[in-house]
Amino acid sequence: MERIIIDTDPGIDDAMAILLAVSAPDKIKIEALTTVDGNTDIDHATQNASAILKLCGREDIPVYKGRGEPLRGKAEICESSHGDNGLGDVKIDNGRIPLQRESAEEYLVRAAQDNKDVLTLMPIGPLTNIAGAVQRDENFVKNIKKIVLMGGAEHCGNMSPTAEFNFWHDPEAAKVVFEAGFKEIVMVGLDVTRKVFLTPAMRELLYQINTPLSGFIHQITRVYVDSYWEKLKNLGCELCDVLAAAYLIDDSVLKLKDAYVEIETAGLCRGTSVVYPVEIWKDKKKNCKVASDLDVKRLFRLFFEKQFPDHKE
Ligand code: BDR
Ligand code: CA
Repeated sequence: MERIIIDTDPGIDDAMAILLAVSAPDKIKIEALTTVDGNTDIDHATQNASAILKLCGREDIPVYKGRGEPLRGKAEICESSHGDNGLGDVKIDNGRIPLQRESAEEYLVRAAQDNKDVLTLMPIGPLTNIAGAVQRDENFVKNIKKIVLMGGAEHCGNMSPTAEFNFWHDPEAAKVVFEAGFKEIVMVGLDVTRKVFLTPAMRELLYQINTPLSGFIHQITRVYVDSYWEKLKNLGCELCDVLAAAYLIDDSVLKLKDAYVEIETAGLCRGTSVVYPVEIWKDKKKNCKVASDLDVKRLFRLFFEKQFPDHKE
C-alpha cells in the first residue's frame, strides 16, 4: 500500500488522475492534496481540488493550499488548454471542503517529519511546493520515500520544442528537486504521455457509461480534446497526469530507465529537462528513473475498468 500526497494544479488531466487514484484504495492511500498554480491560478486550483474530492465522496481527504506563483515570481504566460477555470469551463457547484490552515509547504514538511521514509509524493503540476519544502526543512528530502512526478521529457516539449509545461512553469523549482538527492524519483514525461490519447470515441464511451464520474470526465475533456485538435490537429488529448497515478496503482504500466536529469533554467531552453540515460552516459550518476515506454492496454484497463467497475469490455 502506497501512502501518497498528490501535489496538483487541477487541471483536466489532474482531475482524471485524482479520480483514478481515488478508485484504488486497495493500492493507494491518499493522505492529502496540496495545490499549486499552473494550469490555472491557485484559487481555482484549490477550489477544483476540493470539488473533485467532493464529487467522488472523499471529503475526508484534506486539501492544503500552496504557493500562488513560481519560486522566481510570475510565470511568463499561462496554459490555455484547461479553460478559464482549469476544468474545461465546467462549473461544479457542490460546495467546498474546508481548507486546512497550514500551507502546502508547512504540511509537506510536517507530514514527512511525522512519517519518516513512508510517504510518496505524486506531483502533477509545477514543482514549486516540493522545492519550497526542500528549502524549508533540511530533513525533508531524507524523510520522503519516493517521488513519482509528471513533468519533463527526454525528446520533446509542449511549451517550446524542448520544454514541458510543469518544468517550464517553474524551472528553478524543478532544478531544486532534481538536485536535492531524493532516494527515488520517477519522472513520467511527454515521451510516454504522447504515446496514448483519449479520443473523441472514448469520450463518447464515457458518456454512455453514464455514471456521475464518467459524465464528469466526458464534460471536462471537451475543451481539452478541442484544444489538441486546434493546436496540433491531433484527434484526442493526452492523459499526462493519469500516467503517474496509473504507475502507482500498477507499476507494470510503465517501463523505466535509469538516468541523470539536469534542468536548464536559462536562455532558449529554459525549463528543459536534459536526460542522460546512464547506460549511455556512464560517467553520470543516476538521480532518477525516466519513463521510456508504456503498456497502453493495461493503462486503459485501469482507466475504464478500475474507475467504472460495472463496465465490461
Ligand atoms: C502537464 O502540464 C499540464 O498541462 C498537465 O496538467 C500536465 O501536468 C503536461 O505538460
Ligand atoms: Ca497537472
